[in-house]
Amino acid sequence: MSFASVLVLNGPNLNLLGTREPHIYGAETLEDVARRCREAGERLGLAVDFRQSNAEHQLIDWLHETRSAVQGIVINPAAYTHTSVAIADALSAVAKPVIEVHISNVHRREAFRHHSFVSAGAEAVICGCGTDGYVFALERMATILKNKGKQ
Ligand code: DQA
Repeated sequence: MSFASVLVLNGPNLNLLGTREPHIYGAETLEDVARRCREAGERLGLAVDFRQSNAEHQLIDWLHETRSAVQGIVINPAAYTHTSVAIADALSAVAKPVIEVHISNVHRREAFRHHSFVSAGAEAVICGCGTDGYVFALERMATILKNKGKQ
């Protein structure tokens, strides 16, 4: 039984997981990650709404549309992490707890990946744990929502 709903949002190029630079992002596909998130959600009592888009406006529209239906947001904004004030603003506007996830350790990579527009508004940032980071984020989100009395 689910007591809370969490939006798991994925940004550009994450649809190519499994074939995209597997030495950085691993061999799992996005569908594998979605399945693991739904399984973790069942274990944690969270309904997981898992989505991916390559379009900034679509990610923002989904944040607006699901606003009243979800209690928390797990987001891997991918490249928009480093460029999008608009996504950071949308996350602030919907005013739900946010956990930012990156599959790779962005701090060990190019300097342009070291800055995130999203992190300042996030409860937590998980990076460098591979796709396990999504499961860790859902575990932490379950605790956050429990502490807020939302679950
Ligand atoms: C990423 C890291 C970003 O810098 C990159 O643009 C991505 C994926 C990650 O999950 O490690 O697309 O967010």
